[in-house]
Amino acid sequence: MHRAMPDEGRPRADIVADLEGFKEKDPQYKDGRVWSLVYYLDEDHSEFLKDAYHRFACENGLNPGAFKSLKKMETEVISATADILNGTDEVCGVITSGGTESCLMAVKTYRDKARAERGVKHPEMVIPTTAHVAWFKASEYFGVKIRLVPPQDDFTPDLKKLRRLINRNTVMILGSAPEYPHGTIDPIEAMGEIAQKKNIPLHVDACVGGFILPFMAMNGEDIPPWDYRVPGVTSISADIHKYGYAAKGASTITYRNLDYLRYQMFAYEDWPGGVFASSALLGTRPGGAYAAAWGVTQYFGKAGYRKLAADTLEAVNRLKAGVAAIDGLQVMGRPQGPLFSYRSVDPDLSIYAVGDQMDGKGWQVNRNQHPEGLHAMVTAQHLRVVDDYLRDLADAVATVRAHPELAQQGGAATYGMMAHVPLRGMVRKKVLQMYSEQYRAGGGELNIAEGAEGGISGGGKGLLDRMVERYVQYRSRKGATRK
Ligand SMILES: Cc1ncc(COP(=O)(O)O)c(C=O)c1O
Repeated sequence: MHRAMPDEGRPRADIVADLEGFKEKDPQYKDGRVWSLVYYLDEDHSEFLKDAYHRFACENGLNPGAFKSLKKMETEVISATADILNGTDEVCGVITSGGTESCLMAVKTYRDKARAERGVKHPEMVIPTTAHVAWFKASEYFGVKIRLVPPQDDFTPDLKKLRRLINRNTVMILGSAPEYPHGTIDPIEAMGEIAQKKNIPLHVDACVGGFILPFMAMNGEDIPPWDYRVPGVTSISADIHKYGYAAKGASTITYRNLDYLRYQMFAYEDWPGGVFASSALLGTRPGGAYAAAWGVTQYFGKAGYRKLAADTLEAVNRLKAGVAAIDGLQVMGRPQGPLFSYRSVDPDLSIYAVGDQMDGKGWQVNRNQHPEGLHAMVTAQHLRVVDDYLRDLADAVATVRAHPELAQQGGAATYGMMAHVPLRGMVRKKVLQMYSEQYRAGGGELNIAEGAEGGISGGGKGLLDRMVERYVQYRSRKGATRK
């Protein structure tokens, strides 16, 4: 039975108590145990964000002519972003609801630009394998075919192959600063040269790096140019709700000049509701997110962000050194920004089993695949927990070494299976099925590791369980051969 709307309204205090109660099973991010999703500093900062947000929680940025307050904030946030990205006065842009919207907008813009100016009917984009999944989503949503550039050993894209993938249907090239899976900054200067030579727009996805790499550079870090200083770069996405420490729902998409941005705009002149125009994907745009984003950039200023960048980098460097010091673990590639991943270089040490042990100790770490690894999106807040994390990681590795069978149990088996089943269409189908089940009427639950309840495997033995079993058998056969 679904929980329906109450016939009569309830007291606010009860509702607020319920809301607090709902949080019980959520990730406990306030003590630095979560390594993605949340960019939290402390309660004082959160209160400030809430204050700014509340003041504009009802205002709507849909029509920039109506709430001039919001348009002013947007203009100032975009100018501040252009400033830290070393743009000229011509750099222009829009606040969006998040990194995904910014990426989607870039694809729509370049598809429409190529269509209008070059008559491209079958648009393609050339993107590295390590590009964020938002680009794959954009491809599917906007019908822009992906040409995938394979990575080299250090996870940077193979530029020779990139060059070869460009053709007359190419509407854009993508580089990341940094890419999400390993924290590597793509060779944007070299990509910019290619883009200029071929006269193709180059977007830099700095959703992660946009509000931290500039401050790391101001602090003297040796970061190769990746922003508007690189002549071929035509647009950049940079999220304020990540390392800008804003409230959720704030990213930016900026372009070198209005000649690009104009293709992002939508207008419809014959709607019975009136002539309509909009600058990005959303209709109604949340005023609170703008206010918090504007407030936070004013509050920190360059000095504040430099301090946050310094703390973050200290945490990252200590973590990377600590991981490298653990026998069998290796930092992947050459991450330069605030995040990194690490893998096992010992075939008898399952990194996913190490991840399970870390989960068991109360840490929430993401899993990479191709190759398998664990992921850490490090924030200034994590500086306090570096030693605890490394101690638990060393313990986790020791436990998995003592119990190699852990590789074939729980999350390790499931993630391992997901990464290795050769029939990728089957994995995709199952994931889509599991995901939709969560949204069936009344709601279901997703539990990747356990799999039985809530429609994930349909109560009985589902496809996922069978896939796990097959994978476990495969692994144990492999183990037996090795011995
Ligand atoms: C490089 C990169 N681009 C885009 C995104 C998408 O951002 P969002 O989750 O805000 O939509 C992310 C998210 O982590 C990212 O790392």
